[in-house]
Amino acid sequence: MHTKQFLLIADAWVSENVPQCGYCQSGQLISAYHLLNDVSNPSLSEVKNRLNNICRCGTYPFIHDAIIKVSKVIAGLSDE
Ligand code: FES
Repeated sequence: MHTKQFLLIADAWVSENVPQCGYCQSGQLISAYHLLNDVSNPSLSEVKNRLNNICRCGTYPFIHDAIIKVSKVIAGLSDE
């Protein structure tokens, strides 16, 4: 994955309203980067199983939605 694709992940974080949390989000972003590097178009269950970073406030649905969204963009299935 390249810098451009990492920026797509960051854009999805913003568009899916993932909280800009200094406690966990840098790790969530790096985990998403590695997940999408390994599995280009993961299912929701793959996303849930692969992300092991702890979020103390339960923003996982936002994170999962952002990863699914950016995976579709990277796969060319969506223009967003
Ligand atoms: S969003 Fe960072 S701990 Fe929940």
